[in-house]
Amino acid sequence: MTASPATLVIGATGTTGSRVTARLTARGHLVRAASRRAAPVGGAGAVRFDWYDPATHEEALRGADRVYLVPPLTAADPAAVMLPFLERARAAGVRRAVLLSSSAIPAGGPAVGQVHQALPGLFDEWAVLRPSWFMQNFTGDHAHARDIREQGTVRTATGEGRVAFVDADDIAAVAVHALTAERAPDTDLVITGPQALSYDDVAAVLTEVTGRAVTHRKLTYEQLRDHLAQSMPHAFATVLAGLDRAIAEGAEDRVTDTVERLTGRPPRDFRTHVERALARAGGADHGRER
Ligand SMILES: NC(=O)c1ccc[n+]([C@@H]2O[C@H](COP(=O)([O-])OP(=O)(O)OC[C@H]3O[C@@H](n4cnc5c(N)ncnc54)[C@H](OP(=O)(O)O)[C@@H]3O)[C@@H](O)[C@H]2O)c1
Repeated sequence: MTASPATLVIGATGTTGSRVTARLTARGHLVRAASRRAAPVGGAGAVRFDWYDPATHEEALRGADRVYLVPPLTAADPAAVMLPFLERARAAGVRRAVLLSSSAIPAGGPAVGQVHQALPGLFDEWAVLRPSWFMQNFTGDHAHARDIREQGTVRTATGEGRVAFVDADDIAAVAVHALTAERAPDTDLVITGPQALSYDDVAAVLTEVTGRAVTHRKLTYEQLRDHLAQSMPHAFATVLAGLDRAIAEGAEDRVTDTVERLTGRPPRDFRTHVERALARAGGADHGRER
């Protein structure tokens, strides 16, 4: 008897990968939960995987017929690392690939946009997830969440621009649909929450729900870039500040029906997200969660 094929989840200990892993195992799917630390995630079998260490790739792919791809996070050219792996995955029997990209990056765009463009030529069954900004940025380990906890501020160069923030649970639900539905989406999917909010709106909800004052500090593009460059390479700080400027210009001010259309239920709204995070954290730490 041959074993059932597994789903390789890359980035399985992260914000979306941990949720994708949990949902797949809850449905009885075999999962190979891949990360550099090979930390166990729920009931899934852990496997060591490093994008930059090809010696880890063969074992990670063993028995997998589908893969969830979280790109190497700070790589300037993720395609250079990912495309050789994806060729190898196809040769090893993977037939469906679901790539995590971003609403800010179209096919053929910079960084992971190059992998997006190559994916349909590599796999007959595929999807590219293009989520908006994560609600978990305010309640997890992101710099915004830390600033909120430590200083009661959120610093952006988004001005009055609005973003349809999305809960990572909803991204994971879409990912699981894309990985397991009889027919793969074979397209990209822009995934948003139910409502576009400015960072002033976000600060107001955080203040109301947590009972601790949170303010939005509006920086210029240059101020944000220079602030970020204190803790990361200048080129990456420039990219991130540029994303905020695009938000200020309205690039993220849109809502899609992807979550409801694919999962059958509406996406979670930001207030509910914060209330749930706070309840889980027992009211402490502004509702910190993974
Ligand atoms: N935050 C947002 O608002 C937002 C919005 C849209 C799109 N995105 C995209 O979301 C992606 C991040 O996804 P996420 O939030 O689910 O991940 P995450 O929480 O940042 O976690 C990263 C995961 O990747 C693993 N990892 C890190 N370096 C690795 C390497 N060299 N080789 C193999 N695994 C590695 C980590 O585990 P180990 O450390 O143990 O390896 C972890 O499991 C980014 O590409 C970002 O562009 C984010």
